Amino acid sequence: MTYRKKLIEVALPLEAINKESAREKSIRHGHPSTLHLWWARRPLAACRAVLFASLVDDPSSHPDKFPTEQEQEKERQRLHDLIGRIENVETRGKSTQTVRGLVSWNDITNTSVVEEAQREIARCLAWEKGDEPPTKPEKVTEYLSKHAPPIYDPFCGGGSIPLEAQRLGLEAHGSDINPVAVLITKALIEIPPKFANLPPVNPDSRKNSLKTKTWYGAQGLAEDVRYYI
Ligand SMILES: C[S@@+](CC[C@H](N)C(=O)[O-])C[C@H]1O[C@@H](n2cnc3c(N)ncnc32)[C@H](O)[C@@H]1O
Repeated sequence: MTYRKKLIEVALPLEAINKESAREKSIRHGHPSTLHLWWARRPLAACRAVLFASLVDDPSSHPDKFPTEQEQEKERQRLHDLIGRIENVETRGKSTQTVRGLVSWNDITNTSVVEEAQREIARCLAWEKGDEPPTKPEKVTEYLSKHAPPIYDPFCGGGSIPLEAQRLGLEAHGSDINPVAVLITKALIEIPPKFANLPPVNPDSRKNSLKTKTWYGAQGLAEDVRYYI
């Protein structure tokens, strides 16, 4: 088997990853850290970037596709931009910097950003196997579930690594010596998928919107949690 160098072994867009990882510390809504405090929780942005860059090949691994150094650098830059790029935004005459891409807390709720990342991972796996890379999102997910390596964090703590692995379409496992960490991770990655795309069951939602609304991901479960707490 030919050994292919992964992107993480060559270069990462560290400035964007660091910037967004630091920003996550101040997010107080919708972040797993608000579910339960876990002291050594790794930033989700960093976990996402590391997982992605560990699975995607560095372009120098494909001299048949990127024969010159310039072509490899151009492709590497495209992958870096997909992970994270810093953009200047002008608001009322003031210039601020925003991180966009896979590591961005705001962009990650955009399904096309996740789909693009999953497509890149599937493309590398397909190139390695000599398959035609899948392009349609459902085919990509199917391909990843069959061929992507499972991810295991034996010291999963707050569950950041399994959570991000799952987001990238990978089979995720975690364990920890501390039962509190296990409970947090279960609540984060094991329970929500069981209710994926299902409507809430609380009486109000049943009366009002069950028949008309389409529930994606954990929206139905979240609605029930809000109702019953
Ligand atoms: C730095 S934290 C992990 C952070 C986690 N990866 C995250 O992103 O949230 C280290 C974890 O290792 C766990 N741990 C320490 N010794 C262990 C052992 N012998 N077996 C399993 N887990 C252990 C601790 O309970 C702690 O949750």
